[in-house]
Amino acid sequence: MPNPSCPSPCNVLLLGNGGREHALAWRLRQSPRLGALWLANPGNAGLDALGRACPEPMDLKNAFQMKRWCDRNDIHLVVVGPEGPLAAGIVDALAAPHRQVFGPTREAARLEADKAFAKQVMRHAAIPTAEARVFTDPSAARRYVEARDEPFVVKATGLCAGKGVVVCDDLEEALGAIDRMMVRAEFGDAGRTVMIEERMSGPEVSVLAFVDGRTIWVMDPCQDHKRVGEGDTGPNTGGMGAYCPTPVIDDRTLTIVEREILVPTVDALRRDGVVYRGVLYAGIMLTPAGPKVLEFNCRFGDPECQPLMLRLRSDLVELLWATCTGALDEAEVRFDPRPACCVVMCSAGYPGAVEKGAPIEGLDKVGELAGEGEEIVVFHAGTARGPDGSIVTSGGRVLGVTAMAGTLEAARDLANRGCDRIAFPGAHFRRDIGAKAAPAAGRPNELPTESS
Ligand code: AMP
Ligand code: GLY
Repeated sequence: MPNPSCPSPCNVLLLGNGGREHALAWRLRQSPRLGALWLANPGNAGLDALGRACPEPMDLKNAFQMKRWCDRNDIHLVVVGPEGPLAAGIVDALAAPHRQVFGPTREAARLEADKAFAKQVMRHAAIPTAEARVFTDPSAARRYVEARDEPFVVKATGLCAGKGVVVCDDLEEALGAIDRMMVRAEFGDAGRTVMIEERMSGPEVSVLAFVDGRTIWVMDPCQDHKRVGEGDTGPNTGGMGAYCPTPVIDDRTLTIVEREILVPTVDALRRDGVVYRGVLYAGIMLTPAGPKVLEFNCRFGDPECQPLMLRLRSDLVELLWATCTGALDEAEVRFDPRPACCVVMCSAGYPGAVEKGAPIEGLDKVGELAGEGEEIVVFHAGTARGPDGSIVTSGGRVLGVTAMAGTLEAARDLANRGCDRIAFPGAHFRRDIGAKAAPAAGRPNELPTESS
């Protein structure tokens, strides 16, 4: 079947409203091919400035309405940021001969949405990952951990916005996690089935790849920072910052990840009749026994997307189109060699409950910090326009201050200085995003671990 070529202008509908989507919209806007950029969700203040809000609210559960709207507005490309709509089958619902939808189908998105399914795929394809057992009965889960004297990780198998994983230090904690997920149903249906995993150790990296069904294009590896506090302390968050490329994984190991993890996963799905298209994101732990999969995500990471988009040099409309149409082997995929670092500024109380509506100052004082050969962009996540038009906080993760420079050290420093220019009551961020890369020179796989 011939690949439809990318229309010009190409009208795009973007789904999602966080920092990742602001970064995608920002890069889409720079494509000469971009026609109208429509936003399906009420976005943040940064995103809203780049696109047009759909006049009628887009109910992602109402595929019929969305499809009709896309048809009437001549949407050529739908870009799906978050996992929720992918898991709900938005790609299957909106795809049409005259339209491409960037992201995997519902069946393929199960790699993220159903951890038990992902584990089964990995087991059948002999992909390196933690040993695990899946339970639907809480008594059986309890008996399993009680009978073994080893550290476990208890995971809700469904989508929990990164919160359904408990890394347990002892039996009591594992029993508590089983109880909260399976009996008290703190994660609703997502936690009714749990997976109990062997606890691994080692540094973590995020390896993201464009996948067009056949061809895989592995992007430079990123490192996220999940704990709220500097030095990886405190509770887990959605991600406090990310940088790219990370030297934590060397080229040889990255090749192993591609050959022994990404390629066999896509092949295994295809053997079962499931064609994977979109971004495949493998959360990898570099264990003493080699790289192993922690989880798969079926989309760009947030905040990994922010440094990746700052570094992307190719035309994003063309690249996403090529990925959707199976033409990745002919596409030009090019990233700036300079490292980029995104530092996330959060509201007081995050990752717990936060107050919204705090005025944000200094956003216009950041751009001037970039010196020659440097770039800095503030991607919005949880921001909104206040009644007087000023920009206020509206969520836990507020901004992703993202900088690119000649060295990672300089990018990190620039991003931190950017954060220093911005003020809102209770603002906090980690100054050590990317610091783990610093001692890496020469011995990339002997770094302190994300979870240690
Ligand atoms: P996940 O959402 O499955 O990536 O898990 C969230 C975080 O929990 C990961 O980034 C790791 O820090 C930690 N984690 C998950 N699985 C394991 C495991 N099997 N061993 C050790 N740490 C883990
Ligand atoms: N940065 C982690 C995620 O997007 O899941």
